Amino acid sequence: MKTNGHDATVALGGKVQGFAENDGAKGTKASGEIRLYAVPEPVMKRAHVSGMSAYEELVAEAGADHSAYWARLAREFVTWKRPFTQSLDDSEAPFFKWFEDGTLNVSYNCLDRQVERGLGDKVAILFEADDGQVSRVTYSELLARTCRLANVLRARGVKKGDRVVIYMSMSVEGVVAMQACARIGATHSVVFGGFSAQSLRDRMEGAGAVMVITADEQLRGGKQLPLKAIVDEAIALGGCDAVKDVIVYKRTGAKIAWHPSRDHWMHEATEGQPDTCEPEWVGAEHPLFLLYTSGSTGKPKGVQHSTGGYLLHAAVTTKWTFDLHDNDVFWCTADIGWVTGHTYIAYGPLAIGATQVVFEGVPTYPDAGRFWKMIQDHKVTVFYTAPTAIRSLIKAVSANDAAHPKHYDLSSLRILGSVGEPINPAAWEWYHAHVGGGRCPIVDTFWQTETGGHMITPLPGATPLLPGSCTLPFPGIAAAIVDDIGNDVPDGQGGMLVVKKPWPGMIRTIWNEDERFKDSYFPRELKGYYLAGDGAIRDEATGYFTITGRIDDVLNVSGHRMGTMEIESALVSCTELVAEAAVVGRPDETTGETICAFVVLKGPRPTGDAAKKIAAELRSWVGKEIGPIAKPKDIRFGDNLPKTRSGKIMRRLLRSIAKDEPITQDISTLENPAVLDQLMERN
Ligand code: WTA
Repeated sequence: MKTNGHDATVALGGKVQGFAENDGAKGTKASGEIRLYAVPEPVMKRAHVSGMSAYEELVAEAGADHSAYWARLAREFVTWKRPFTQSLDDSEAPFFKWFEDGTLNVSYNCLDRQVERGLGDKVAILFEADDGQVSRVTYSELLARTCRLANVLRARGVKKGDRVVIYMSMSVEGVVAMQACARIGATHSVVFGGFSAQSLRDRMEGAGAVMVITADEQLRGGKQLPLKAIVDEAIALGGCDAVKDVIVYKRTGAKIAWHPSRDHWMHEATEGQPDTCEPEWVGAEHPLFLLYTSGSTGKPKGVQHSTGGYLLHAAVTTKWTFDLHDNDVFWCTADIGWVTGHTYIAYGPLAIGATQVVFEGVPTYPDAGRFWKMIQDHKVTVFYTAPTAIRSLIKAVSANDAAHPKHYDLSSLRILGSVGEPINPAAWEWYHAHVGGGRCPIVDTFWQTETGGHMITPLPGATPLLPGSCTLPFPGIAAAIVDDIGNDVPDGQGGMLVVKKPWPGMIRTIWNEDERFKDSYFPRELKGYYLAGDGAIRDEATGYFTITGRIDDVLNVSGHRMGTMEIESALVSCTELVAEAAVVGRPDETTGETICAFVVLKGPRPTGDAAKKIAAELRSWVGKEIGPIAKPKDIRFGDNLPKTRSGKIMRRLLRSIAKDEPITQDISTLENPAVLDQLMERN
């Protein structure tokens, strides 16, 4: 296999060790040799990509003619209204275009096409509510519901290219809302239901939304949490005059404020609407959605995705990475507010006609056995979740054995997946042994909001596994590791992760910010490669990639992406109290990272109970500004912040202090070394 000049076949051959019980060194480096988990025979036998040789063939095909390879898949996986005549257009790089003169509709591909294939009565979504109630929606029903809502959107004047913000609970209606936008060519921007009114407002304004689709409330872990009230608050903050209509899905029936000129109940508006709705056929490059995500500078970026290329990437990765077959039951536990919920709930599984579980609640309610019970009840065969969830469930088991997966029948499982952050080998081993019963490969999928879908990941029927490594690039993804001028670094040496060639699912631009798109992802010194923003290292023997974490100021807390500067600006926007703030991440066993803030107040530096009280106030301030997920766990106060003589905040030093590490850095340039003792004090 040739990937970027690296021949991993030779390395893999002979070194692959089968999985053996009682083998203390399984899946780890032992005496200079890498021990991998071999692909289980039964998984390999039925896999779409079966065996390393099949993987290598695909990589070779892409290597021989990159754009022809993707064009072949685009014809196989996507139904086009008007076929494309050109695969890749790189004439305006880095604004790449794929399949540009082709026309299609994503909702047609996800719904009508499945009904036409005879899958109308197949369950598309098996929904389990927070309280355990289960409902099933077939492909025919999902199509009808999508059409009814799409008709409402059209009737309210939403047109092709208009932006619709979706601020919804995990629900069938959330998926229907996304599909309905796709059906009429409206570009959706889903905002995670945990974001505050201020964040929602910023995203509505940024996108220039004409409509918001929301629910009265969401139900999570037995708690009723407001959604519609936050939409009202966000609109009241101003700047969203373009929003003409708010469509409200009635989830809990709670009493909510009502603006008759603007608000419409979803059930009333859709009643009597026809079950059919002519899809809007759009060009392949038409923006299917924007999704705001954090970058290293202050303002979140509206990542813009395409229609044709994105759908292709979603469909092909769903099918191959999860090796989905007709009778599989797939469950991705992500929220539709994040990219994982876009690609592997709202689009990928439907595009290939799969049955999937959609879950409203949280993994620990009513108890920490919820995931295992649901896998048992619904006979889930492919389960995809985040390392944070695994780690918190491991913790729950050590507190109470009743939550252990061994108390549940998980024999339906065939493949497990991990996403969003690095999975540490200990969590990997536990997941493999106790959830997967030692027989299910774990696909550790590395990707990003910007990449649209999986980039580096094992294929379960082909790739021997190494805990903690996302292994090899998906066929057609030219991943590589380079130094800061774009030269390949030798295996075994860390560097920056890049992608050397464009791929269909990639980000097209940052909404309204073309220059920022170029600067962020295609910096001049990197020879036109896509810069992921993560560090990575490739193993010398296997060629396997391991992600070493972000190389910019982006934090990953429980798999949620946040910019340190976003949190800093939220803190300093508390102008009554805060003079200056610096935010860094601290490694955390369960959540991956936690947020640690160093704050200089306008008044005197507080200590003791006063410090605790102000820290609590600032935490809730950040919760209101951004959302609860951005609240700093640790807030410390200093008379000022450690700066170099040129005035730069010494973040590396702050990272050490946050970790309570002894300071080894050179602090001779530090203007005010006395402040360090203050910042070491926890509140
Ligand atoms: C991190 C989530 C290690 C990485 C799909 C990336 C990972 C960021 C993995 C993107 C993984 C995601 N191993 N790190 N398997 N998957 N990451 O945009 O730092 O929310 O850049 O997309 O998560 O986060 P985002």
